[in-house]
Amino acid sequence: MKKHIAVLLCIVLVSIVCISCGGHEVTEIPATAEEEPVLLDKKVGVLMPTKTDERWEQDAKNIQKALEQAGYQVEVRFAENNPYVQAEQIEEMLRLEVDCLVIGLVDTEKIQEVLLKAKEQQIAVISYDRLLMDTEAVSYYATFDNKNIGVSMGTYIKEKENLEELRKTGEHRTIEFFMGSPDDNNAKLVYEGIMEILGEYLEDGTLVCNSGKIEFADTNILRWSRTLAEKNMDQILNQNYKKEKLDIACCANDTIAAGVLYSLERSGYSEEEWPLVTGQDAGIEAVKNIISGKQSMSVYKDTRVLADKCAMMVKAVLEGTMPEINYEEGYDNGSINVPTYLCTTVVVDKENYKEILIDGGYYTESQLE
Ligand code: BGC
Repeated sequence: MKKHIAVLLCIVLVSIVCISCGGHEVTEIPATAEEEPVLLDKKVGVLMPTKTDERWEQDAKNIQKALEQAGYQVEVRFAENNPYVQAEQIEEMLRLEVDCLVIGLVDTEKIQEVLLKAKEQQIAVISYDRLLMDTEAVSYYATFDNKNIGVSMGTYIKEKENLEELRKTGEHRTIEFFMGSPDDNNAKLVYEGIMEILGEYLEDGTLVCNSGKIEFADTNILRWSRTLAEKNMDQILNQNYKKEKLDIACCANDTIAAGVLYSLERSGYSEEEWPLVTGQDAGIEAVKNIISGKQSMSVYKDTRVLADKCAMMVKAVLEGTMPEINYEEGYDNGSINVPTYLCTTVVVDKENYKEILIDGGYYTESQLE
């Protein structure tokens, strides 16, 4: 019995010592021969838009891993594409006294107020993949070159459909556009990139858009929704492609492409008639569709690299140093020029997906079966 009481007393004493060591200074655990010191009391809030699009879950896992390896505590939340939920999650992070926020945005307009609060509390904010617009409460931006993603899609269409040749012979191809969310700055940049390449062929009639929906305002799809894309495609096929087949479905990402593919499947397009379908993200489902020939291409974005660059920004911000930036002039978010790190992307299709995605270690062969 005496022995038990002594053990209990020891536990209580150790707990008191541990609790009194808490607080807000950096606590270092003594390093072993190989290990770096572990910093325990810096907390980072990682807020992602949704889990319904597989890429964001992957992004969150990658960032969490990189930040935890650097010794930070990490809180991850997904907003299920609801800007009000995201605003509430940022509030929650402020209550949890995070030192830095990484935000994969849903809609900037709805989080302006809480971003100001974060700024007042001197909490650094890193804009992740999507740019936080019209606010000064953002320190850095880590993203992919979105305009170039659009240029890659446009160039793929131009080359695969031999638009230069068609122009000479006076032939044409039909095309429809299914663009990204109007509240996402990335979507506008992707659209600009596509039009930079395809605009001239639409003007001279080498590309014909039977629905007449060419402008971003007429082709955007709120929250990049698969079901909305499917609905729009149903309508377009019914109204505009009874006499003539659709040759190209220019889809801004893989979720939109998936909706468009459902619609095509139901509408009785044969293998020979199947249109060229673009995408973005090289998600698992999309790559399987590329292998089976339903989707033509996707733009692969190595989210491991983006997560590492983002973690590097967080570290720099928390240590009071300058992170590596490769786009000095930064992105104009309507309020300030946000210093940015731009990651590069690669087009994947049936020809190169093995080399890029499997040999590159992004997916295993069995994941794509
Ligand atoms: C991202 C894309 C993603 C899309 C929908 C965009 O902001 O850049 O990679 O497919 O959001 O989640």
